[in-house]
Order: sequence, then C-alpha cells, then structure tokens
Amino acid sequence: MIDSPNPSFISVSWLGEWTGRLRLLDQTKLPLEIAFVDCQAVEQVREAILSLRVRGAPAIGIAAAYGVILGLQPFISNARVDSHVQSHLANAIDSLARSRPTAVNLFWALDRMRKVIEGHLAAGPSTVEALGARQLQEAKLIHDEDRQMCRAIGKFGASLIRDGMGLLTHCNTGGLAASEYGTALSAFFTAQDEGKQFHVFVDETRPLLQGARLTAWELMQRKIPCTLICDSMAAQVMREGRVQSIFVGADRITARGDAANKIGTYGLAVQAKYHGIPFYVAAPSSTFDLKLDHGRDIKIEQRCEAEITEAFGKRTAPHQVPVYNPAFDVTDAELVSALITEKGIIQPVNSDNIRRLIG
Ligand code: MRU
Repeated sequence: MIDSPNPSFISVSWLGEWTGRLRLLDQTKLPLEIAFVDCQAVEQVREAILSLRVRGAPAIGIAAAYGVILGLQPFISNARVDSHVQSHLANAIDSLARSRPTAVNLFWALDRMRKVIEGHLAAGPSTVEALGARQLQEAKLIHDEDRQMCRAIGKFGASLIRDGMGLLTHCNTGGLAASEYGTALSAFFTAQDEGKQFHVFVDETRPLLQGARLTAWELMQRKIPCTLICDSMAAQVMREGRVQSIFVGADRITARGDAANKIGTYGLAVQAKYHGIPFYVAAPSSTFDLKLDHGRDIKIEQRCEAEITEAFGKRTAPHQVPVYNPAFDVTDAELVSALITEKGIIQPVNSDNIRRLIG
C-alpha cells in the first residue's frame, strides 16, 4: 500500500495558503519527463486544461476548483469583497467552464465553488481574506473527497478481480486523472494491495496516447505486470482468451447509465459484448449527470485536426485531408456490465438502480 504517494504521482496540488499557487504535473511531458507547471492566474489553469497538461475528469474538476481561488488573488490588497470582485470571480468561473465540455466533474466542481462564494457572501459583508480562506477550504474538501471516493471505488472494483485474470483498460484513469488511486486503475492498485496476481493489457488510446504515455507509466511505477497494445488489437487479444474483464473510467454518466469516456471506449464495449467479457465502468458520484437521461445529449468535445494528422510533431497524413476528431464517445448502458462507484456496484445498470444509489 502506498500511504504517502510518490510526489511524481500527484497531478494536482495547492501550495501555501489561499494566496499560494496551483501546481500541476504536466501530463503532456510524460513519460519522458516529470515536469510541473505552477499556475498563478485563471487563464493559465484554463490553458492547462485545454492543452491536457491536467486531464482526466476528476483532476480537471479539482484543478478548476483551485483555479477559482486564483481569480480572487488580484484583489489581495482590497479590504472588502465588492461587486467588482464578485463579477471578476463569476467571470473566472465562466472562463474555466468554457475549457472542455464533456467531463461533468468540471461543472460540478465549479458549481460547488460558486455556491460556496454565494453562501459566504449571503451571510454578510466579507473581507477578501475571509473569502479566500473559505474558497481554499472548499477546494481542498473537493480534492480530499475525491481521494476518498477513489479509494472506495478501488475496494469495490478489486472485489471483481481474481487471481490469474487478464484485464484490459483504455485511456488513463489512475492517480494522474484523479486523486491518488484514480477510478478504474484504483481497482487494479487495490487488488495489488490485496496481494492478487493479474495482468493488464493497456490500449495505447489514439490519438493522444494516454494509455501508452500515462497508464503504462503508472502501472510500471507500481510494478503491475502490463502489456501495451494498439487500440485496434483489443478484439484480437479478446479472441485469444487473454482478457477476462475490462475496466474503464467515465467523463459523464447519465441517469440511465450511458457513459461518455475517451474515444474508443464504445467500440471496446461492443467487442466485449461479442466476446462475452464483463465491461465495467468505474467513476465517482461527481461523474454522474442525473439531469441528462440519454447519452446522445452529452456534448462531445471536438479537438483539433493536428492531433490526428501529426503524430507528435511529424506530419503523418496528406495536407488538407478532412479530419474528424471527437475526443469522447458514449457507451450505452446496455453494454455496461456494472458501474463501480464509491457507494457500491450498480448492477444491472438502469435508472432505478442508479437513482437508488446515486440520486
Ligand atoms: O481527454 P482526457 O485524457 O481528459 O480523457 C480522460 C478520460 O477519458 C478518462 O478515461 C476519464 O476522464 C476517466 S478519469 C478517472
């Protein structure tokens, strides 16, 4: 068990009091370099989210919550919170919300920060100092709750893993994408803590290779046996009988259990169904969006052409070729064997069971 995680796993941290700064592990540099960026302005946090320096649904939410504190810092020398400060904070929240559209954790965390600010100011006039301290307290609480949720997800997830299993995962759902143990990878880390022996196949996760760059790195750091495959090899690996369960994370789960996750997840779920392999989606309750019923209503982020036409700086497609680059897809609830949350395992996946546990 890793009690105090290696600092290289800490993707998001806040340094100092509310006047401090946000430190992000720059995930675009991994696995070749462990580098951190210190953010001292809201725009820097927004850029870090857009460029995937910080990524993964829970981590984006946590970074944005801390980012709202940076929105108050320019008023450090003001005594009182006035309407100008308030509108500046509202703009900071709006700007962070306009970064990436699919992961609901971002909006969930920003909403919590907005409500805390409103609640604090509704109680009477406040100093900038007192509001800053209150904002930091809430952001730390969001961070800490995520840590606990990830551990609980790991316990439930590990109960589905048996000795000798071959497992498969897509994208990155570990301590880089969330707090400490992550979500789907938390099941693996916890199973390892419990002494179980298993092997993980890691989808490289085109186009940005979160699987190859980040998941393989995290698993190797923790000495979990793993094998990297191209996304297109997953079906063959299943046919060869090497995979007994698939664990992925999610960016948004609707009331009926449709789950948006990294592009390629839906195809993987279809292949799992065909091969009779359980397909598990692990996510904290902050990833559920019960206002949406159906997955078709989830806004899918579209990213730039260069992510497909250039493999890390080198042109790999003809100039001017038309490109379509959705960053996420939606897996229908019917393809999900179970949802693993911090509150328990939802199985079968349907609106009633989700409402009972999450709603
Ligand atoms: O574009 P990314 O790298 O932010 O996408 C991340 C994913 O799709 C993860 O699987 C998801 O956020 C779950 S993270 C615990």
